[in-house]
Amino acid sequence: MFKRVLYLLLLLLYTLLCGAGISRDSQQRYSYSKTCGYESCNKIDPKKLNVHLVPHSHDDVGWLKTVDQYYYGSRSLIQKAGVQYIIDSVVEALRRDPARKFIYVETAFLWKWWQRQDEKIRQEVRQFVNEGRLEIIGGAWSMNDEATTHYQSIIDHSTWGFRRLNDTLGECARPKIGWQIDPFGHSREQASLFAQFGFDGMFIGRLDYQDKYKRLKDKTAEFLWKASSSLGEKANLFSVALFNNYSPPPGFCFDVLCSDDPLIDDPESPDNNIEARVALFLAYCQVQAKSYNTNNIILTMGEDFNYQNANMWFLNLDKLISSDPHAFWTGFFTSRPTLKFFERMGNNFLQITKQLSVLSNQMDSSGLIHFKEAMGVMQHHDAVTGTEKQHVAEDYARLLYSSFNYGTKIVSKAISRMLKINPQAPDAEFHSCFLLNISSCVFTESSGNFVVTLYNPASQSMSNYIRVPVNGNAYKVSDTFGSEIVTQLLPVPQFVRQTPGRNSNSTKELVFFAEIPPLGYQSFYVTELTINAVEEIKPASVSAIENDLYTVSVNQAGNVVVKWKNMTLQVIQSFHYYEGMKGNNTAFAYRASGAYIFRPKESNVYDISYSGNYKFYTGPVVNELHLTVNNYISQVVRVYRAEQKVEFDWVVGPIPIDDSIGREIFTKYKSNLQSDGTFYTDSNGREMIKRRRNYRPTWNLTLEEPIAGNYYPVTAKIYLEDVREKMRISVLNDRAQGGTSMVDGELELMLHRRLLNDDAFGVGEALNETAFGYGLVARGSHSLIGSRIGDSAGVALREKTEAISLALRPWYLFTPVGGVTFEQWKGRYYMKVGIEGFSGRKLGRKKLGSFLKNKFPKNVHILTLEPWKDGTILLRLEHLFEKDQAGSLSQSATINLLDLFTNIEIISVRETTLGGNQWIEEMKRLQWQIDSNEVDDQPYNFIPINRRGGAMEIVLNAMEIRTFIITVRHT
Ligand SMILES: *[C@@H]1O[C@H](CO)[C@@H](O)[C@H](O)[C@H]1NC(C)=O
Ligand SMILES: *[C@@H]1O[C@H](CO)[C@@H](O)[C@H](O)[C@H]1NC(C)=O
Ligand SMILES: *[C@@H]1O[C@H](CO)[C@@H](O)[C@H](O)[C@H]1NC(C)=O
Ligand SMILES: [Zn+2]
Repeated sequence: MFKRVLYLLLLLLYTLLCGAGISRDSQQRYSYSKTCGYESCNKIDPKKLNVHLVPHSHDDVGWLKTVDQYYYGSRSLIQKAGVQYIIDSVVEALRRDPARKFIYVETAFLWKWWQRQDEKIRQEVRQFVNEGRLEIIGGAWSMNDEATTHYQSIIDHSTWGFRRLNDTLGECARPKIGWQIDPFGHSREQASLFAQFGFDGMFIGRLDYQDKYKRLKDKTAEFLWKASSSLGEKANLFSVALFNNYSPPPGFCFDVLCSDDPLIDDPESPDNNIEARVALFLAYCQVQAKSYNTNNIILTMGEDFNYQNANMWFLNLDKLISSDPHAFWTGFFTSRPTLKFFERMGNNFLQITKQLSVLSNQMDSSGLIHFKEAMGVMQHHDAVTGTEKQHVAEDYARLLYSSFNYGTKIVSKAISRMLKINPQAPDAEFHSCFLLNISSCVFTESSGNFVVTLYNPASQSMSNYIRVPVNGNAYKVSDTFGSEIVTQLLPVPQFVRQTPGRNSNSTKELVFFAEIPPLGYQSFYVTELTINAVEEIKPASVSAIENDLYTVSVNQAGNVVVKWKNMTLQVIQSFHYYEGMKGNNTAFAYRASGAYIFRPKESNVYDISYSGNYKFYTGPVVNELHLTVNNYISQVVRVYRAEQKVEFDWVVGPIPIDDSIGREIFTKYKSNLQSDGTFYTDSNGREMIKRRRNYRPTWNLTLEEPIAGNYYPVTAKIYLEDVREKMRISVLNDRAQGGTSMVDGELELMLHRRLLNDDAFGVGEALNETAFGYGLVARGSHSLIGSRIGDSAGVALREKTEAISLALRPWYLFTPVGGVTFEQWKGRYYMKVGIEGFSGRKLGRKKLGSFLKNKFPKNVHILTLEPWKDGTILLRLEHLFEKDQAGSLSQSATINLLDLFTNIEIISVRETTLGGNQWIEEMKRLQWQIDSNEVDDQPYNFIPINRRGGAMEIVLNAMEIRTFIITVRHT
């Protein structure tokens, strides 16, 4: 939500009243010298209650209006909000009185504003920053959501915000504090990342009302969050839950849009109210102080921009902040499933674009910056969450789509440069198809022969079932050496062909298997064959499909039954829905289910009744079940020959609403495992967190909403185990979803929601998405893996590999070849990194076919490879496994930085904090005293780069990420 400026006029007054804080005697200090940081804070008096007034503005990077509408202040009928005026007026206010201070958070807006200022103003703002009067807090591109975001994207957009800040405002603009005052809940991983950015602490606004109540009662609203048992002390973060969310004390909002009376201290004025108002304020401070452990309290002096328009909000402020027993903010874990997938693919393609920019030596590209910034916007807590208005969601999609187009140009140029055997030859076109997920691609379906090139951004070789839409009747696929690859043609199911908006003639998919090397590409030459007797692809007359490990069949109810052959494990997968609560939100009990809130009516689970049909297709590469469940739910279930996973490729929509019922569709995996109320979900795609049904670790739970209150964000993975039988099932997803285990042995994931009422948290619209004139159709996939849990390294590796193959997929590039034959093509282009044979140019070692010089240890990967500044490169290496969770893979790994790439020579290396904005040796975090009876953390033992004997070795411990800025020479 959008907040406005609060003038600091009252600061002095408040300060004196409450006994401490900011004092005026520091006037002389404002000769120009760098006094940013804690040094610029006013002295506190340990004997008194110190009230810290923090003027701030909460500027959403899109919500009810688009990013640009908020910046420029247009569409003011929707919301009166214009960030350019806010920053202008803050600067003016700071200029007028050197005792004034302000904090600013969202770098996306600050940067937009900065670019439009002249040098005089810029200099002035730099001075405010250097004096610690304008302090940057948070400082990422946006204030990211914490539930539905992937850690790679959180790191990326924070890094980019920090970089802009350092470039424009200098080192005093380096944020030291996290400011997550509006996201709808808080993840452990976010705290861990903040600690690794070198932050000293963070403030949070919204937390579960029961949690908050208890913390205020017990004075535990300030706590040291131990955010990673693998990283120990390195991931500890001092965290503070704010008393009044991010609002000022009730009655003390002084913006032009607030109606609170100003303080009138003129003794002559008949309206003089100073004594009464001061007494009120003091009382408020004392009430707040009762809930905190020290005699320092913070008052957030900023408020919601539109709150005058919706005056009811103000009256209900407490309810909004603490939420209520019927409003679990767990709907947004799934809201807008296609935007969530687009965002995830955005990260996938952004990483590929960055890597290929580096590998092809395109170090300077405004297109790449556009892409990074668009992804930064997508992380915002009203973007990827799906809690924005429909027109704003469309604008986010437009922004990201234009970035995909920039990415396509960069990637095509990079691949063309790298593949050409003769560097002087003209560039070829390598096209991307963004609609492969609905089996549509103009470059393959309208040309007879084409080349498909895949680039693998992962640091391990990946097994791929390459799938391209076609409309011919027979094809031959040749690999690098001209050998023919085993292929299979499968029909595109009718339920995919009828996707609204799909404009494609392809009726089949050509599938073949290939192992693509790490950080490498491989091309395949596809020839359309003319055959005389065209035969339709016929379903197999079998009652089940199988591989060595399990069989898949369909039961009477139209549910999918998976039976493992070598263990007593069985899973039944089915579809269900909750009926979304209707309501007018006039009382807690009338709260509607909506974009934020998940509130099923009467907790009833409705089964989807089976009215469809199914077919099996078998072949040498994959066996498929095409199952139509009813007229809006269907799926393809895939069984690959040598894979442990079962792939569920679901299609949901248009969800019917003609009976005026909103529906929330979920799928359930019901196993025969005894899970004792326990299951595990990931935190931002990184570490796993143990969950227990109807339980919270820090307070005694009472649930008025038994289902919604048990929903957790599943960004990448959910699993449960049977410790007696030593088996587990895991489901990995391709976008963020809400999930839970309501019954032992069962996992459920929410797929799609279509609702007819607003839930009254401000968005003012029902979550009723349509596209192409129909209710929105979403297609996505789940990978189900059943395992024995004895071999923890094996299980961890299998699941991690699957997670990477969903998040960092190889990118498909298509080149229609016209009359160019295979022989001609391979005479012009390398078909795999380092596969020479056609000219003397060496790109790398033959055996790897990769830009990596050596195989990486299985527990390490390259998290970031990105063009940085002045020709340098930003490199991050990540240990992929948690301590004690993955057997031998949890052990530390050693990497020689000088021996990483085949075509890039590393000249010098400097390590930074995780955000890339501070040299590691300069990081000094505040130390916090922990209650003496707590277990000691694994201390943070920083092991610097070991430079010896021509090597530069680094050690990565479990879950560690290390960040480097390197200077290089492309060879
Ligand atoms: C589909 O085929 C028809 C007939 O050949 C053609 O006119 C049309 O452009 C094709 N559509 C696409 C999307 O390729
Ligand atoms: C079946 O399980 C046994 C014992 O757990 C194991 O040794 C064997 O390799 C498994 N076979 C297959 C095909 O997985
Ligand atoms: C921050 O910017 C300053 C000034 O340009 C530069 O000297 C410094 O190296 C930058 N810090 C980092 C960590 O890049
Ligand atoms: Zn907000």
